[in-house]
Amino acid sequence: MNQINQSGWKPGTPIAADHGGDYPTVTGNKALMLEEPLLFELGTAETCGVDLPAPDPKASNRLGPMARESDIGLPGLSEPETVRHYTRLSRQNYAIDLGLFPLGSCTMKHNPRLNEKVARMPGFADVHPLQPVDTVRGALGVINELAHWLIELTGMHGVAMSPKAGAHGELCGMLCIRAALEARRDVRQVVLVPESAHGTNPATAAFAGYEVEDIPAGADGRVDLQALKARLGPDVAAVMITNPNTCGLFERDMKAISDAVHAAGGFVYCDGANFNAIMGRVRPGDLGVDAMHINLHKTFSTPHGGGGPGSGPVVLSEPLCPYGPLPFTARMEDGTVHLVEEENADQFGHTHSFGRMTAFHGQMGMFTRALAYILSHGVDGLRQASGDAVLNANYLLRSLDDVLDAPFGDAGHCMHEALLSDHGFAEGMTTLDVAKGLIDEGFHPMTMYFPLVVHGAMLVEPTETESKATLDQFIAAMRSLAERAKAGDETLKTAPHHAPRARLDEAHAARKPVLAYQEVANG
Ligand SMILES: Cc1ncc(COP(=O)(O)O)c(C=O)c1O
Repeated sequence: MNQINQSGWKPGTPIAADHGGDYPTVTGNKALMLEEPLLFELGTAETCGVDLPAPDPKASNRLGPMARESDIGLPGLSEPETVRHYTRLSRQNYAIDLGLFPLGSCTMKHNPRLNEKVARMPGFADVHPLQPVDTVRGALGVINELAHWLIELTGMHGVAMSPKAGAHGELCGMLCIRAALEARRDVRQVVLVPESAHGTNPATAAFAGYEVEDIPAGADGRVDLQALKARLGPDVAAVMITNPNTCGLFERDMKAISDAVHAAGGFVYCDGANFNAIMGRVRPGDLGVDAMHINLHKTFSTPHGGGGPGSGPVVLSEPLCPYGPLPFTARMEDGTVHLVEEENADQFGHTHSFGRMTAFHGQMGMFTRALAYILSHGVDGLRQASGDAVLNANYLLRSLDDVLDAPFGDAGHCMHEALLSDHGFAEGMTTLDVAKGLIDEGFHPMTMYFPLVVHGAMLVEPTETESKATLDQFIAAMRSLAERAKAGDETLKTAPHHAPRARLDEAHAARKPVLAYQEVANG
């Protein structure tokens, strides 16, 4: 067995002090947190985890020149060894099933097991996008029913279900806007984006071929309406605005913003990733929004992590609907919704579609989970979920604002996330130190240094599913860390002390990651 794993730790060597090892052990393990070698170190190619019959020589002859001539060198491990390996690895990371995951803007919320059960039903889990349509009517019915709910909840006229994530939905919405402007031969070059916007907004506008211009925020953290109005003109294609915004505040002037943009001939794109704070209470369609994506993983509790599997349906206003991608779900005059595809686009008058975002219908597994969430809550339950998310965030904000600076604490209630800053920390102490300290306290760090408009920002999103007891435990940890940061406690600079890995050189780890195992093993 190779004696070196990725940490450089050798079995039998006492654990290093900066790993929190007050009591060195011969295994290098700390309590139940086990150091984990690679599969290749655990097993060897000479052993096999299962009893397989000897290969039939005639069968291998049939492969001809394709037959493999040498071993592929995979380690052989028994089933329990393999299960334990992956279970131990899973314990080296934090998860929503372990505790509060306060990442602001990312909305890491509990995934109800009911949704998982429904999504695993064979009729949903085993469908294939190339199956004959007659065999997947039920699955298409699920997509249509979810589409209907999204249209109703947002007060919009149609929805493209296919985008695969929030940012993909943004691109879809901006391509609709571009198609609508091109159809009226109105060439516009600029998209206005508030400076507090999520980073994907300016990136999307640029990707869709537009020049991006900043709109400043007022002292209350909201879009400066007068500055926006002053910049509107015949070159402005759209405004992309996140509501609730990334400072955790509701854009109260949204209707006035939409009216001004429409009067200047532009469109309003709303980043609806934070819809979880207002669902069941505010309909973006009533605020004049033309296009908005919804992150199913943030609002309707589908799993969220590692970049996927995301799902970002885009709802569109009546003027934009004709340009929506195919497949598209459109609301008819009688209130029914219909799935429009290439074959029936003429019948539904959907003749100006800009094209497709994906080859098929979208993320079936996420659709079933989201619909299960919606149906199990009902409208009243959804309204309560958004209310509880906002209540929890305000409870956190008001429980911390005497020890931590809350930059917009005077701007009224926050929405679903509480924004704090490093103002008042001792010289040399940073937001990063507090984040690392949270790891020692058993929590995943909050979002750091975002939004950019706040120095040393800490964006904390508790979500609606956390109990008061859990929130109080988190508040106690944050209060203690705030006091230590203000007092200049040097031990915070070397945190985490109780994690599988001590503090890394962040810049080095990001810019020069060593990803090949052999390079690590050979030093
Ligand atoms: C406000 C906001 N906009 C856009 C996005 C992008 O969504 P995605 O990561 O699904 O592309 C996010 C992600 O959480 C977000 O919080």
